[in-house]
Amino acid sequence: NSSEKSQMTNAHMLLQKFYHHLLLNTKEGQHAYDYLTSRDFTDDTIKKFGIGYSLNSWDFALKFLTKRGFKESLLEKAGLLIEKEEKFEYFDRFRDRIMFPIYDHKGNLIAFSGRVLGKGEPKYLNSPETIIFNKSQVLYNFHQARSHIRKEQKVILFEGFADVIAADRAGVFHSIATMGTSLTDDQARIIRRNVENVTICYDGDNAGVEAAFRAANLLTKHGCTIRIATLPDGLDPDDYIRKKGPESFKDDVLGASLTFMAFKLKYFRKGKDLNDEGVKMNYIDSVLQEISYLHNAVERDHYLRQLSSEFSLSLEALKEQLQKFSKKNS
Ligand code: CTP
Ligand code: MN
Ligand code: MN
Ligand code: MN
Ligand code: MN
Repeated sequence: NSSEKSQMTNAHMLLQKFYHHLLLNTKEGQHAYDYLTSRDFTDDTIKKFGIGYSLNSWDFALKFLTKRGFKESLLEKAGLLIEKEEKFEYFDRFRDRIMFPIYDHKGNLIAFSGRVLGKGEPKYLNSPETIIFNKSQVLYNFHQARSHIRKEQKVILFEGFADVIAADRAGVFHSIATMGTSLTDDQARIIRRNVENVTICYDGDNAGVEAAFRAANLLTKHGCTIRIATLPDGLDPDDYIRKKGPESFKDDVLGASLTFMAFKLKYFRKGKDLNDEGVKMNYIDSVLQEISYLHNAVERDHYLRQLSSEFSLSLEALKEQLQKFSKKNS
């Protein structure tokens, strides 16, 4: 019910304020602060994103919140405490972690994600699904990015929080991320309700490329126009910004983003020897297949001409072949 929900949000808010204080002002939080500094987090970003530190204790949140009148069972339901095998004994879920508060798109604090300092498993520990936290509907930083998204008429979609925060530091404020899972229908719907143009900027590894492909297909289905920004192998946007700087990120990564179609063409030919006749024919077929899905006649014509000139094929032959794919689609 709604009073339970608001109590849960209140518990999160009190705890977030204290975690934030521990990180910025205390000896106990110094090593966490040093870790963030080593990753180029500034005080401004720590404040803007409400980042904190959870003490290395089994009962800090337990005591802090029960003293303020919250019931243990409610805190367990909110995901802040864990119950020891039905014994009505509880302990803190988040211990010795960098705490990222998670807000819904109205700006209500509904969950945390806690990152281990340095190496360790799991790297990010997230709040479980609760009556206030539905992972598949949350987009990280959406509440702060929304006005920028509206103003810029576009959004940048990242894989991780660290990428959103690094982008924000670089002055790219219309940045959001999923919560460590593939983009869902609900998230795609929320995005489309606010904006048409989406630039996907996922990690520069195989998993990132595959995930970008899936997200692009889903967003296209929902009516978005997609561009894809790719990173050099092995780097994610946060790594890139730290290595090459904000200007290079804006110019050479975001500025060099490809349309979804251009991205597909690049993807289809990756690692292939187009001098081989069979490989070449396969490639041309995959491209024609993609062209046949395009609704816009001018776009179809553009890519047909591109194919025709690259492989010295007549437009007539390509158009004839395209007919066959178009028939299959209908
Ligand atoms: N994630 C998660 N649980 C993990 C690992 C990742 O929930 N054990 C989610 C987090 O939301 C993370 C996103 O998946 O932001 C992307 O994962 P990854 O690229 O591994 O993390 P980074 O965002 O690059 O985090 P960092 O730079 O701190 O390593
Ligand atoms: Mn702006
Ligand atoms: Mn990744
Ligand atoms: Mn990453
Ligand atoms: Mn990273």
